[in-house]
Amino acid sequence: MDALGEMKDWLGYGPEDTERLRAFWDFAQPEIDGIVEHFYREVQRHEGSAQVLTSPHQIQRLKSTLQVWLSEVIQGPHDEAYAHRRQAIGRRHVEVGLPELYTFTAMYLVEDDLLALARSSLSPEDAIATCRSLRKVLTMDLALMTGTYVLSRERKQLDVLQGLLVEHLRVCVILVDSDDIVLSATRAATRLLGDRLTFGGRWQDAMPIGLIDACDLEIQLKRSLKRRQRLTLPRVDVTSSSTTRCFRIEMTPLSHPTATFLLHLEDLTDAVALEARMQRAEALAQLGTLSTAVAHELRNPLAGISGVLQVITSGMDEDEPHRTILTKVEAEVRRLDALVSDLLSFARPKKATLVPISMRPLALEITSMLQPDWPRIQFEVRGEGKALADEDQVRQILHNLLRNAVDAVEGSGCVQIDLEDARIFVSDDGPGVPPEVRRSIFEPFVTTKSRGTGLGLAISAQAADAMDGALALADQGPLDGACFVLMLRPV
Ligand code: HEM
Repeated sequence: MDALGEMKDWLGYGPEDTERLRAFWDFAQPEIDGIVEHFYREVQRHEGSAQVLTSPHQIQRLKSTLQVWLSEVIQGPHDEAYAHRRQAIGRRHVEVGLPELYTFTAMYLVEDDLLALARSSLSPEDAIATCRSLRKVLTMDLALMTGTYVLSRERKQLDVLQGLLVEHLRVCVILVDSDDIVLSATRAATRLLGDRLTFGGRWQDAMPIGLIDACDLEIQLKRSLKRRQRLTLPRVDVTSSSTTRCFRIEMTPLSHPTATFLLHLEDLTDAVALEARMQRAEALAQLGTLSTAVAHELRNPLAGISGVLQVITSGMDEDEPHRTILTKVEAEVRRLDALVSDLLSFARPKKATLVPISMRPLALEITSMLQPDWPRIQFEVRGEGKALADEDQVRQILHNLLRNAVDAVEGSGCVQIDLEDARIFVSDDGPGVPPEVRRSIFEPFVTTKSRGTGLGLAISAQAADAMDGALALADQGPLDGACFVLMLRPV
C-alpha cells in the first residue's frame, strides 16, 4: 500500500468523507477569500514566516495558490496526483527556506477557520461529521507536505555541500555528456580555462589551444571510452611561439544516464618550471665547484707564463721574427686569464646590496667609457629610470650586454639603451639571437661568438637574480636586432 492509502486506512477516510466535504463546498466557497486573507495576515504578522516572503506580487500569487489548494482540500479528488501536489508544496517550502513549524502553525489556522465555518453553517450533526472529515484530509495534507521536508532539506544540504566542493576544490574537473557537451565543471576549471569553458559548449572548445593536437586527445579519449577504460596522460607539453605549458590529463568513463565521462586537467607548468629551476640550481652548484677548482689550477701557471712572456718580449727587437708569435701567445694567455676571472665570478656570485639608483647617469657613464674604443658605434640612451639595485652589479650587467651588442653589430652600428621605470632595455641593430640558442642563451658556456667564454650572460643573469630582478631576452627589439631586458626592483 502506498503512503496515501496507508494514511487513509489509519484515519478511516472513505467515500462518505469525500461526499460530505463536497457538500460542504457550497458553504465554504463564499468564505475562501476571507480565510486566505486571514492566513496571509497571520503569516506576515510573524517575523519568522514573514521573512521568506519577498514581494507584494509574490503574496498576491500565493493567495491564488492557497485558494486553489483550499478548493482541492474540500472538493478532492484525494488521489495520487493530489498527494504528489502536496509533496511538491513541501519541497517548494524547503527551497524558499520556510521552516516546517510555520506549516504546522499555519495549518492550525486554516483548520480552525474551516471547522468554525462548518459549525456555524451546518446542522450540529452534519457539523460534527464534516469537522471529522476536514481534520482527516488536513492531517493527510500536513503529513504529505511535511513528509518531503526531511528529504528535500537533506538534498538541499547535499546540493550546498556539492556546491562547496565544486567551488573550492582546487582541481580542474569537467563533466561531459555523450554529445561532447560540458554539463558541469569545478570553479578551478573555470579559472584555468577562462572564457573557453561554457556550460552547454563542446569540451573540445574549452581545452587550452594546442592541447588536443599535442597528444591526439580526441582520438585517445574516444578509444578509451569505447573500451570503458580510464585514460591517463602523465605529461603533455603544449608549445606556442614564446611559452610551453605542461598538463596532466585523466579521463574517467562514468556509468550515468547523462554524464558520460569526467575530464581531469592539471596544469603542471609551474611545478615543471620549479623542478627545472631546482635541477638547474643543483647543476650550477656542481659547475661552480668545478669552475673554482679549475680556475685555481689555471690562475698561477697563467700568471707565470704571462710574466715569462713579458720578460722574453721586452728583451726582443721590434723586428724580431718570433715577436709576433709571442704577442699572439700573450693575447691568448690574457684571454685565458679573462676566462679564469669569469669562472670565479660565476662560481662565487657576489651578494647584492640594494640601494636606490638613478639609471640614466650610470648608462651615460658606461656608454661614454666604451665610445672611444668603438668610434663607429652609435650609442644612444633614452628615457629615465630608477631602481633598487646594486650599482656595481648593474654596471657589470650593462657592460656585458653592451659588449655583446657591439660584438653583434661587428663594431659598426647602433646600440640603444631604453630606460623605463625599473627596466633597462639594451638593443642593437645586429642580426639578432638565432632561434636555436634563444632558449639556452643564459646557460653557462652557451655563446654565439667564436671567441666568447659563454659566461657573460650567465653571470649577468645570476647578478640580476641576486638583486631580486631578472634578465630576459625580449621577443622583439626596437632596432630589429637583439633586445635584452633587465628588470629590477622598483624604488
Ligand atoms: C497550510 C500551510 C500552507 C500551504 C497549504 C501552502 C501552500 C503553498 C503552495 C500551494 C505553494 C505553491 C507551490 C508551488 O509553486 O509548487 C506554496 C509556496 C510557497 N509558500 Fe506556502 N503554504 C503554506 C504555508 C506557508 C507559510 C506559513 C508560508 C510563510 C511565508 C509560506 C510561504 C510560501 C512561499 C514563500 C512559497 C513560494 C512562493 C514562490 O514560488 O514564490 N507558505 N505554498
